[in-house]
Amino acid sequence: MTAQSWTHTGYTQQIVFGAGAVRELGRLLRAIGARRVLLVTTEGRMASEEGAAMRRSLGADLASTFARVESHVPIPLVQEAVRQARRDAVDAIVSFGGGSCADLAKAVCFFTEQESGIPSTSWADRPALPHVSVPTTYSGAELTPFFGMTDPATHTKSGGGGPTLAPIAAVYDPELTLSTPVRVSAETGMNALAHCVEVVWSPERTPEAEAIAIAGLQRITRALPLVVADPSDVAVRAAMLEGAVLGGRCLQNASMGVHHGLAQMVGARAGIAHGLANAVLLPHTVRFNAEAVPEAVRRIADAVGGPDD
Ligand SMILES: [Fe+2]
Repeated sequence: MTAQSWTHTGYTQQIVFGAGAVRELGRLLRAIGARRVLLVTTEGRMASEEGAAMRRSLGADLASTFARVESHVPIPLVQEAVRQARRDAVDAIVSFGGGSCADLAKAVCFFTEQESGIPSTSWADRPALPHVSVPTTYSGAELTPFFGMTDPATHTKSGGGGPTLAPIAAVYDPELTLSTPVRVSAETGMNALAHCVEVVWSPERTPEAEAIAIAGLQRITRALPLVVADPSDVAVRAAMLEGAVLGGRCLQNASMGVHHGLAQMVGARAGIAHGLANAVLLPHTVRFNAEAVPEAVRRIADAVGGPDD
């Protein structure tokens, strides 16, 4: 075995998990000293019962709401949200929804920090604008320190990242995922699975990231078909959401590879959801890499198991 060298970053980040966990939001915001919160979500989530509950739980601390998130995070929306955050002098962000909501919130944190004149350079820096994410899908974006956005004119993806962009806290409430459509659940579940696959073959993975990815593969492989079979079962929703936590956590200390390179390109150009692009491409990228990195693909196969396991 050749000598290895690696650096593992552990972010300051609290994960609160469980049915009803969204009620912890007030406590988390008090802990970070937030007084003027920007809520970032989609129109649909905003109009839902859960959206109303979210607004109630934020109470007087809700200073601003941006409820126009769209998939692939179009850059003009990022620009509008940054202007709104500045205008309303917000001191924290709560994102509520899928990966695009978390990504748009991270983009606002990124550009706000750039504007402040003291952009972060070190893992030891603190965020200029703390972000608490409340995910409703399995994308993992609610934990990672980077984001993507899309130029609607050229259909190309860009993005940014930095050590202070990992949300300071994430609230995983399986009850909030019950209203996530089964198709969105299946697609973003395949995205979570693909994150774990890519971490196992990433040349930049740390031992901890690989261990988390293997655990994620095992859990997601068991839970995702059960969610698709009965999306109203809160116990299987919880099992899959735990798989998504592992998918997001392993992404923090590894790079993405051929699979995500293709998924980003296909998603942006064809305008299909990131999760669907993942689901369509994954068998092909695994087959491709079975020759390039056979040892890693064997570890993935062992974790996933055979069709009869
Ligand atoms: Fe992804």
